[in-house]
Amino acid sequence: MEDYLVKALSGIIGEENVKTDIIDRYCYSMDASIYKSIPDVVVFPQSTEHVSEIMKFANAKEIPVTPRGAGTGLCGGAVPIEGGIVVDLTRMNRILEIDLDNFCVKVEPGVVQNQLNQMLNRYGFFFPPTPGSKKMCTIGGMISTNAGGMTAIKYGVTRNFVLGLKVVLASGEVLSLGGKTLKRSLGLDLIQLFAGTEGTLGIITEALLRIKPLPEETAVIVAPFQDINDATKAVNTVLSHTIPTAIEMLDSGSIKAVNTYMPELNLPEVDAILYFEVGGTYEEVRKQTDLIVETCKTHKSRNIQWTSDPSERQMLWQGREAAGGAIMTLDKRLVRVYEAEDVCVPISKIPEMVKKFQEISKKYGIPVCLYGHAGDGNIHSGILIDVRNQEEWQKLKNLTREVYETAMFLGGNISAEHGIGVLRADWMDRIQGLGLNYIKRIKKVFDPKGILNPGKLGI
Ligand code: LAC
Ligand code: ZN
Repeated sequence: MEDYLVKALSGIIGEENVKTDIIDRYCYSMDASIYKSIPDVVVFPQSTEHVSEIMKFANAKEIPVTPRGAGTGLCGGAVPIEGGIVVDLTRMNRILEIDLDNFCVKVEPGVVQNQLNQMLNRYGFFFPPTPGSKKMCTIGGMISTNAGGMTAIKYGVTRNFVLGLKVVLASGEVLSLGGKTLKRSLGLDLIQLFAGTEGTLGIITEALLRIKPLPEETAVIVAPFQDINDATKAVNTVLSHTIPTAIEMLDSGSIKAVNTYMPELNLPEVDAILYFEVGGTYEEVRKQTDLIVETCKTHKSRNIQWTSDPSERQMLWQGREAAGGAIMTLDKRLVRVYEAEDVCVPISKIPEMVKKFQEISKKYGIPVCLYGHAGDGNIHSGILIDVRNQEEWQKLKNLTREVYETAMFLGGNISAEHGIGVLRADWMDRIQGLGLNYIKRIKKVFDPKGILNPGKLGI
């Protein structure tokens, strides 16, 4: 990057908030996906005004700008594909307001999900959306990908919690959207437009979020099944009577991976394990637990465990929580690559999707472990390949195509909660059809020069 540009950025936000060293830039060349691209400069704004001034400058000079939170994304959303400026928002991490009378909080985008919840828990409240990366991921990233996670089945996804936003546009203009009312019938809703657009239309610098009271009591139920079809039937029966906080699943491959990684957990090596969490009053939790245990038994689950004891709950959750990392270390010669890792199907189609996924994996000789959010049909895959072998990459591409086509054929979609980024950008015309023309026009309205997170979402 030219010296005068670095000088200009330093003039806006201070020299100490501008990094040009190759080591720093390299660290910002990646997220948790398979993509890498080194930015010219990394900046650390500390206010909306900083972000606005950066955007005015970048827009005038037509420099690409990629906003970034914790970099836990799995689709390359935070990778600066065209170089330029990475805007790291993690120093904008203040909780600006906790309004318990109106059940909302105002935060900066760099606040980490878990930190927000630690703060809210002290007041008896919480922010429900819970991605697997809750200990690292930021609120800005969660809104930008419309993150879902474990509790989506009961509480909804991130966009359902956004009451207001402050957004800096490509021009540097600042939009203040929404407010503390719980209802709004005011025509087009720009808040919902920005949620899930992965920083391609603007940079979120403040968010007003709904919060919920902590349940009085929580219980966890873990149910092993010899046949994954029985597990799905159990999920269906449970959901027609009650809505648990979470319903998660591990398939046989994921169970083996967890047992290899943490042998002390000694999970039963069955076809599928279901994890349920329920919350509410003591009475409600007891009733829900009974119902789930009985339903699982009826669907041939044996050796079901359940508890409402906080430390035992944590122990029971360990199997599901370890799955992602466990798959990564399953075979030292192979690397876990994030492709075809976030499909979603109508829940009645889970067994078909799982079966087809396993068949496709066999066909290409690529090991795949499946896990995820059984309550909403969102299936994650841990795919392992030899990354030095070009043929494996080609096979992976074909496998991914077949998986996506299967998901769409079953009435599902190719990403439930991780997003599109670079990874699935080529699929946008198939997913959106004619709608993509209109989406591209919306992009042009907000970002006529195409400088905001270019190369993403196929726009
Ligand atoms: C999870 C991430 C991968 O659910 O979405 O663990
Ligand atoms: Zn997930």
